[in-house]
Order: sequence, then structure tokens, then C-alpha cells
Amino acid sequence: MTIVEVTNPDKYPMELLLLADPEEQAIQAYITRSKCFVKEVDGNMVGTYVLLPTRPHTMEIMNIAVEESSQGKGIGQQLIHHAIQTSKELGYTCMEIGTGNSSIAQLYLYQKCGFRIVSIDKDYFTHHYDELIIENGLQCRDMVRLQQYI
Ligand code: ACO
Repeated sequence: MTIVEVTNPDKYPMELLLLADPEEQAIQAYITRSKCFVKEVDGNMVGTYVLLPTRPHTMEIMNIAVEESSQGKGIGQQLIHHAIQTSKELGYTCMEIGTGNSSIAQLYLYQKCGFRIVSIDKDYFTHHYDELIIENGLQCRDMVRLQQYI
């Protein structure tokens, strides 16, 4: 598994990052304070994740994305396990991740990787995003926050 940190800001995989968060301005705001990792296959970037230290002891996966043609092959799970291992090695003991109420596959994946739902930010998406987001026939309104101790 080749997962490497991107240290040159010019090399951030913006196209992939936008799959997980459609607001480039929001990504630009957190990525400068974060660590960005990519998974490469045959020299191509197929997946990415971004780690942001949010509070003492706590690291949040802010963005995780796998290119469409490579989804459903276990890469998302590999990236989450790598994110947890990297955070442990950096001395963090608590891991967080958030997603929309309508992101059913993501909620499944994060719980499968050990995260548990700890809170809901009601109307997070309706307040902070201009466009209406519909997924799985549901309006994305609330941010579901998940956590695990590592
Ligand atoms: N519907 C149902 N189940 C799914 C789906 C889906 N669309 N996608 C994945 N799964 C299941 C898989 O079946 C697998 O379960 P299993 O091991 O029991 O069979 C499990 O989820 C893990 O699948 P992976 O193959 O590891 O996941 P993948 O490589 O597709 O990556 C990811 C998941 C990152 C969510 C990817 O689909 C993606 O990039 N989506 C678009 C961007 C996105 O939504 N990112 C997350 C936003 S929230 C955030 O960034 C904090």
C-alpha cells in the first residue's frame, strides 16, 4: 500500500478533495493547517485523506475521497486505517469524522471502521452550504459527528 504525505501545497489533489467537500474555499481554509495524504497506484493518485488537529489529543479526518472508478474496492477502508495509525504515531488518542445525514454508505463505512456517533449538528448543511444537497433520496441537512478512541 503506497500512501504518502503531500508536503507541496501545489500538489494537493483538489479534484479528489472536491468529491468529499464541494466548497473549495472551505478546503483551502483547513488544508493549510492539516496533513494531506494520497494513495498512488501506478503513479496515479486514486485516493486521499486530510488530517486536522482540532483540540488537544484530537485529530479529525476532514476529507476522504477515492476516485470514482476505484470506489468499492476497499481503498476507503485502507485510508481510514492509515489515518488512524498515522494519528496514533503522532501521539493523538481521539479520532473524529463527520458526514451528512444522507451519506448512508459513509455512515456505514465509518462505523465499520470503529467510529461511533456522538452528536448531531442540526441544520449544519442547510446553514453553511448554498446549494441543496440530495443523496439517497434524502435532503442532506444535519452533520453526524462520529468519534473513536485510538
Ligand atoms: N453504497 C453502499 N455501500 C458502500 C458504498 C456505496 N456507495 N461505497 C462503499 N460501500 C461499502 C463497501 O461495500 C464496503 O463494505 P464491505 O467491506 O462490508 O463490503 C465499505 O463501504 C468500504 O468500502 P470501500 O471500498 O473501502 O470504500 P471506497 O474505497 O469506495 O471509499 C468513500 C469510500 C471514500 C466514501 C468513497 O466512496 C468516496 O470517495 N465517495 C465520494 C466522496 C465522499 O463522499 N467522501 C466522504 C465525505 S465525508 C468526509 O470526507 C469526512
